[in-house]
Amino acid sequence: MAGRKSERWATRMGVMLAVAGSAIGLGAFLRFPTQAAQHGGGAFLIPYFVALLLLGLPLMWMEWALGRMGGVWGHHTLPGIFDAVTRARWGKYLGVLGLFIPFIIVVYYLYVESWTLGYAFLAATGEFANQNTATVNGLHTQYLGVRDGSALSWSLAGVIFLLLTLAINFWVICRGAAAGIEKFSRIAMPLLFLLAIILMVRVLTLPRAVATPFEGLDFLWTPDISALTNPTVWLAAVGQVFFTLSIGLGAIITYASYLRKDDDVALSGLTSASLNTMAGVIMGATIAIPAAVVFFGAAATMRYAEGGSFSLGFFALPLVFNEMASGALVGALWFLLLFFAGLTASVSLLRPILAFFQDELGWTRGKAASVLGALVAAYLVPLVLLTGKGVLDDMDFWAVQIFLPVGALIEIIIFAWLLGMKHGWEAITAGARLRVPVVVKYVLQYVAPLLLLALLGSWLFVPDDPKTGALSAAAKMMMLDGVAEANKPYLIFCRVLMGVTLLALLLLLRRAWRRKLDQPAMAPHIAAAEAAVDAPGHIMEEITPALFDAGRPDRA
Ligand code: PHE
Repeated sequence: MAGRKSERWATRMGVMLAVAGSAIGLGAFLRFPTQAAQHGGGAFLIPYFVALLLLGLPLMWMEWALGRMGGVWGHHTLPGIFDAVTRARWGKYLGVLGLFIPFIIVVYYLYVESWTLGYAFLAATGEFANQNTATVNGLHTQYLGVRDGSALSWSLAGVIFLLLTLAINFWVICRGAAAGIEKFSRIAMPLLFLLAIILMVRVLTLPRAVATPFEGLDFLWTPDISALTNPTVWLAAVGQVFFTLSIGLGAIITYASYLRKDDDVALSGLTSASLNTMAGVIMGATIAIPAAVVFFGAAATMRYAEGGSFSLGFFALPLVFNEMASGALVGALWFLLLFFAGLTASVSLLRPILAFFQDELGWTRGKAASVLGALVAAYLVPLVLLTGKGVLDDMDFWAVQIFLPVGALIEIIIFAWLLGMKHGWEAITAGARLRVPVVVKYVLQYVAPLLLLALLGSWLFVPDDPKTGALSAAAKMMMLDGVAEANKPYLIFCRVLMGVTLLALLLLLRRAWRRKLDQPAMAPHIAAAEAAVDAPGHIMEEITPALFDAGRPDRA
């Protein structure tokens, strides 16, 4: 797909399935239940739904529109699109988030994805049958090779499945979108949903162990109003909405950039958002949380969830399969399908970086994929070895709870304020087969940016607990408050590594644009678009239609 001239989606259904595939993944099935349990169950859902309505859906539409517009301009990634909209030298540097965030996320995402493959194998070989509530936690630490007291964590099985996961991912992105992704999604998604429904029924009819399934549902669905003033819970919910919808980092933008200018984005955006919400809230939470509460009780469920951002499913589900007829087979199938769901998501995280290497640095697909593969593999070495120190969860926290909201805020400001909501609204509604309510326009322009600013601001500055001190949640996080002394150096190392990565990407951006200046003879459609931008007397209001009309040769 990311090759040159002929790139576009083979069918309209194809892009929708790919975007749904990007969205529906480990975020809904593993991260959502764990986040909800970590934040006290009932405390999480109100912020989650508020964030979904006020931020998730509007931003989803915005990203579809921005991506489709960017594609018409000849750009498939945030740096190029921001450069075109702002027409300022700093524009592209803000777009660095569209490379940095997907890179950070994809590294640990691939590792978690490989666990699902490993668990499919464990299930198939009958390993789950030996587990009970006392041992299933140990199964996970054993799989990760986390040993008490030892500095490094790894296991042979863990490494083998990780290498396999990497190989499959890079094979898929090298084969291209139409052939690879569409085929995968068409079979895996419906099957996953079917199996999830079966699992949901089984969980809700589980016999009482420590608790009943309905106590599990209560834990999640009984709202806890007192937590609503806590910015950390809010940012967790906002981050989860962005993560699960794949927004705030340019992944949807890259997919949408291969649409035609009059392809519908409104209905497609809504469809993929609702499918995904269904997967997360109904299935992810109705399976993993009630199951965990049944087997471990609510207090232990919260404790387990705090031990790892994706962990709950790995603890609770093997026990559910033990309660099922043909549990080994169903368990293997479930984790295998989860692996496919994760695969379509991780591929969409790799895509923007790959497209950037090809479009803005002029690399061939082979070179781009090799360099990206080497970088990801290199990053995975410390990540795997330090998983037992909480490095994965720290990266996940920064990427999802902080960088995604920041990325989304920057995108909104550029879209609603620099491009302007007049054009923004046209871009959202052009070709739409669904009437997007006008209120979304105002939400995007005012409510969403203010809400994000308020949340990030209170996280940064408002004292976390006025009774015990004046430190904000951000300050505590930065000072590694509550982290075991022995783990601190490792977390600092990983934060420095993230900082260095950001810096390196900024330098790469500078190089990319210098290179373009050296080679003014760009692809003809980009030249046409840039000529339209540079036309004398031009103002922003005039260029949007002009740029749309500049079109791309392959779209004609
Ligand atoms: N939405 C994916 C999931 O829930 C993860 C993802 C995040 C994919 C961001 C792409 C971009 O599993």
